[in-house]
Amino acid sequence: MDKRILFTPLELKRITLPGRIVRSATELFASEPDGHVPACEFAVFDRLGGEPLGMILTAHTCVSPEGRANLRQNAFWDDSFFADGERIRRCAGKNGVPVVMQIGHGGMKAEGNNGGLPVFTPDNMTEENIRSVVRAFGETALRAKRAGMDGVMLHCAHLYLLSQFFYPKFNHRTDRYGGSGLNRFRITAECLEAVKAACGNDYPVFLKINGDDEGGTEEYYRDLAEAIRSTGDAFDAVEISGWHSAPLGVPEKPYFLEIVRRLKEDVEVPLIEVGGIRSAEGMLMALEAGASAVSLSRPFLCEPDFASKIRDTENAVSRCRGCGFCFRPLDNATLVRCPTAGPLPLPED
Ligand SMILES: Cc1cc2nc3c(=O)[nH]c(=O)nc-3n(C[C@H](O)[C@H](O)[C@H](O)COP(=O)(O)O)c2cc1C
Repeated sequence: MDKRILFTPLELKRITLPGRIVRSATELFASEPDGHVPACEFAVFDRLGGEPLGMILTAHTCVSPEGRANLRQNAFWDDSFFADGERIRRCAGKNGVPVVMQIGHGGMKAEGNNGGLPVFTPDNMTEENIRSVVRAFGETALRAKRAGMDGVMLHCAHLYLLSQFFYPKFNHRTDRYGGSGLNRFRITAECLEAVKAACGNDYPVFLKINGDDEGGTEEYYRDLAEAIRSTGDAFDAVEISGWHSAPLGVPEKPYFLEIVRRLKEDVEVPLIEVGGIRSAEGMLMALEAGASAVSLSRPFLCEPDFASKIRDTENAVSRCRGCGFCFRPLDNATLVRCPTAGPLPLPED
């Protein structure tokens, strides 16, 4: 495979991506205390908007106040955040790259982060609580659509609420939201329905989900494949992450090649591999395994122009060392998100 394929369009069911390198959803852990997007984040999107990317995901953005996953997480749960979404779309989408808002609920990860509101877990939620979260996903997606976002991604990975529901380890319910894989996936399927009802069937929707559980069991894989199949072609693509989504250190190869390879045989929806990709070679390995696109996070924190480097230079390799610094809350005094990159930019206006 030639790396030029990375810069060719990818036609999905409801949207065509101009390329196959995706900037994966990435929090800067920098939002204002009330959830508004800080100036430096607009500048980051502005910088990415000039790059030869196929799609730009926003940060994990919270759909409901009780679901705030950390104290620096961006929010989009009411219209006071509308202008933030519009501005992200304007900055990141300025050269025509689709911009997709990742929306999610922190579930148990909201403990200590949601201002003392009830903390929802799969085990303690009433059906009315579930309905309110599902409604929040639909309403947030509609707000994102009105703000110009080209689609939304449901965050069902990394042990946030939808992901907690899908793991038997966190979900001991005995009703229709627990037990079988399809039951544990039901809340996610209902969020998907709510988004479609609010935004229309033609609105692009993506899913991010873990391809494995703590032990990489066959049961989890079987349930995952069945859950994805159950959604038919309602998702435009499914991004495959994992239980250990962002290990420290320099990866030798993309993290989830084997899972992508298997899923490619078992599901029809286009797949995106995210994690551990640091070079064109890694990107092509993921495509050869069956992914339709590749998604990267830390390499773009380290070098926002990494996609250009892949395109324009031979054997470009990310400078990211996987040091873990980028997981800390942003220090507003230094604005250093990645020690290799130096301070984040600020917008001109
Ligand atoms: C600082 C940081 C913030 C992240 N924020 C998100 C997020 O908001 N939503 C999400 O789904 N994943 C998030 N991730 C995970 C990445 O999207 C990605 O799955 C993971 O880092 C592996 O990709 P990489 O090896 O290219 O970094 C984050 C990762 C990092 C390093």
